[in-house]
Amino acid sequence: MTKFPISSYTAPSDLLSGRVILITGAGSGIGRAVAISIAQHGATVLLAGRNINSLESTYDKVLRKAGPRAAICPLDLEYAKDSDYVELKNQVEVQFGALDGLVNNAAILGDRMPLNQYKSELWEKVIHTNATAQFLLTRSLMPLLEQSSHGASVIFTTSGAGQAGRAFWGAYAVSKCAVEALMRGWAAEQENLGKLRINAINPGPTRTAMRSKAYPAENPTNLISADQITWAYLYLLGDDSLGINGKTIHAQL
Ligand SMILES: NC(=O)c1ccc[n+]([C@@H]2O[C@H](COP(=O)([O-])OP(=O)(O)OC[C@H]3O[C@@H](n4cnc5c(N)ncnc54)[C@H](OP(=O)(O)O)[C@@H]3O)[C@@H](O)[C@H]2O)c1
Repeated sequence: MTKFPISSYTAPSDLLSGRVILITGAGSGIGRAVAISIAQHGATVLLAGRNINSLESTYDKVLRKAGPRAAICPLDLEYAKDSDYVELKNQVEVQFGALDGLVNNAAILGDRMPLNQYKSELWEKVIHTNATAQFLLTRSLMPLLEQSSHGASVIFTTSGAGQAGRAFWGAYAVSKCAVEALMRGWAAEQENLGKLRINAINPGPTRTAMRSKAYPAENPTNLISADQITWAYLYLLGDDSLGINGKTIHAQL
């Protein structure tokens, strides 16, 4: 486990200059904040997600804050088939040639309830969206990541719920354990190839819609904003993390 104090890393303004980075769930929450920050640090950001209106809102904000450095990639991780991933990979290849970073951020919470009562349909939906689809997307984009001239960086998103046994976190906790295992296995396979690095970030309690759904009685003003944890994503996407592979970074102590 790698721990840093909040905001201990300050990224140079041109950290990601000339890079192309795809992020899922870019229309809201942490994904939106990270997408804007990536663009502000020089990258062209590919905004992937299922809600076009939200993605367009992020796109407009990127344009206002960072200039013309974004493209929208419609992608519903729950329903995407192999052919959709191939199509996305082909579009990125035609427009950009290679990919320098991938942030697997999108996820769903499911229901917080006892496992004894957890519905099988919801179980499959959460495991598929949060774990299987992350594998399918990453596998499909791997040839473009391997072609990066910068040494590409892949980030998965984990959670405290995936680190220890916690009651009533259901399929979400299991999906995050799966993502951690996926990250570690893939990182080990890449270790000696030296082409790219694969790590995970645990954002910690962050003021978003998912957090509000998980803790409806909590006062959100007591939580840090998504903008305050973007440093961890910048760190793993830029050259300052070259050589870091197979690690989980906790964005909050
Ligand atoms: N917030 C926290 O305290 C916290 C703590 C630990 C870990 N995390 C993790 O951090 C990541 C971001 O969470 P967040 O708090 O920002 O949650 P959020 O506000 O709910 O955002 C999740 C994003 O994922 C997208 N998404 C959901 N299902 C999708 C699908 N089938 N296809 C494509 N996109 C989909 C959502 O799109 P829609 O707008 O269409 O729903 C949304 O943009 C997640 O992996 C979460 O598990 C969050």
